[in-house]
Amino acid sequence: MLKLAISGKGGVGKTPLSSLLARIYASKGHNVLAIDANPDANFGAALGIPWEDIEKITPIAEMNALIEERTGAKPGTSAPFFKLNPKVDDIPDRFSIEKNGVKLLMMGTVDTGGAGCICPESTLLKALLSHLILRREDTVILDMDAGVEHLARGTVRAVDAFIVVVEPGQRSVQTAKSVKKLAADLGVKTTYVVGNKVNGPEDEEFVRKNLPDFEVLGFISADPLVREADFKGMSPYDTAPNAVAEVTKIVNRLEEIQGAGNGKENS
Ligand SMILES: Nc1ncnc2c1ncn2[C@@H]1O[C@H](COP(=O)(O)OP(=O)(O)OP(=O)(O)O)[C@@H](O)[C@H]1O
Ligand SMILES: [Mg+2]
Repeated sequence: MLKLAISGKGGVGKTPLSSLLARIYASKGHNVLAIDANPDANFGAALGIPWEDIEKITPIAEMNALIEERTGAKPGTSAPFFKLNPKVDDIPDRFSIEKNGVKLLMMGTVDTGGAGCICPESTLLKALLSHLILRREDTVILDMDAGVEHLARGTVRAVDAFIVVVEPGQRSVQTAKSVKKLAADLGVKTTYVVGNKVNGPEDEEFVRKNLPDFEVLGFISADPLVREADFKGMSPYDTAPNAVAEVTKIVNRLEEIQGAGNGKENS
């Protein structure tokens, strides 16, 4: 089962792509685990989970009692000793919510000023992320915030690929290059590109031309229905049929490449 981490500059559309991938894989009968590693936690709404239900969820990073129980140390403290391999295997089923065939796990984030820390909460999150990526028989879609890089270190090596979302524009293209470098540093083999918010062939050409070393999986058009889904707290899967068709093509392409085992590797 594919484990994919979706990355890219802020606001490029990581969350709509993540949600469409999750819902499409679910519709194909996969067990899908969606992981929200963003502080603003909007993956749930994009999956079609009602806001009232999302509000009731406490992200794992904020479950102080659980963190203390599993690591032996109180979060927020720099206890001298705690377990570095806490038990996590029961967490996905206990704390995820399921809707439309997708299980959502809200990780939350640990604010460490970007440097990463050896503290109980990040230890638990790291152990959990490793477990999810390595052992579960699920298709995993990780909606990644740039700030979780420190968590990713040592844990995301096992994802099959990073998908970096780009908009036609220089800034986003530069981000794609640095994501690829990061992915390579983290030991992730492949970085794919999806172009989002494109307005026609010129935009597609821009992306391909500026990222010649990347496998471009496909494109998602600039689509008022995608934007509207976001505004209304709904899933683009339910409201934006054109985007669903475009991401279905992306999924097919991905299967073709992964199946053939010939994606362009990070270097
Ligand atoms: N294909 C699209 N067509 C039109 N609007 C889009 C499309 N994809 C995303 N958007 C809009 O762009 C804005 C930013 O998207 P979104 O917040 O989902 O991106 P993100 O990469 O997940 O952002 P963040 O980094 O904050 O998590 C939103 O208003 C969203 O509705
Ligand atoms: Mg997002």
